[in-house]
Amino acid sequence: MKFFVDTADVKEIRELNDLGLLDGVTTNPSLILKSGRNIAEVTKEICDIVDGPVSAEVTATEYSEMMKEAKVLAKIADNVCIKVPLTLDGLKACKSIRTDLGRQVNVTLCFSATQALLAAKAGASFISPFIGRLDDMGFDGMELIAEIRQIYDNYDFDTEILAASIRTVDHVKRAALIGSDVATVPPATLKALVKHPLTDKGLEQFLADWAKTGQKIG
Ligand code: E4P
Repeated sequence: MKFFVDTADVKEIRELNDLGLLDGVTTNPSLILKSGRNIAEVTKEICDIVDGPVSAEVTATEYSEMMKEAKVLAKIADNVCIKVPLTLDGLKACKSIRTDLGRQVNVTLCFSATQALLAAKAGASFISPFIGRLDDMGFDGMELIAEIRQIYDNYDFDTEILAASIRTVDHVKRAALIGSDVATVPPATLKALVKHPLTDKGLEQFLADWAKTGQKIG
């Protein structure tokens, strides 16, 4: 499973990238707002840090305006992946961005399996089902990931499932068990994946016993 980090916070991205844990980054207009940065500047900085795809989202809702924005975003760096919303105009833009601009596309705001089917048919590189937002509404977001996995496997679509709106460590585990290709995870949740109380307890015991030996390695 690939790990993307879901943030526009350059400090967090640099730290996770230095740990060797990052395969890509996703941003959205809300995350750009949170960063307080200009979209072109912050996207360029992120693309210079991370080798993998960095999703930057168009904000137009009409096809030709989306294409204009996609061209601007694509010029920022070679690893910019254009993010479009799951609308008819977004799907049309997805197809054109893939064929005319030769860029990766992340189709975002997916809340149903049929939406995901359309995105695959439009040639999306990634489909982003929003798990947490479905859970918030009383649905089971993970069920959607399982449905998309089955549909994509039935027809050998190469669109990658990018589990998004992840809120917990358990979301990551369940998405991995189902076979989601990628999870985009907030920085704190990504770091929380390493935590286990028995690891801490075991390490404490080993260090205490090691100190009693009076030895040093090297
Ligand atoms: C995905 O690309 C989105 O940026 C993100 O996962 C949305 O998550 P949220 O529901 O926590 O805003």
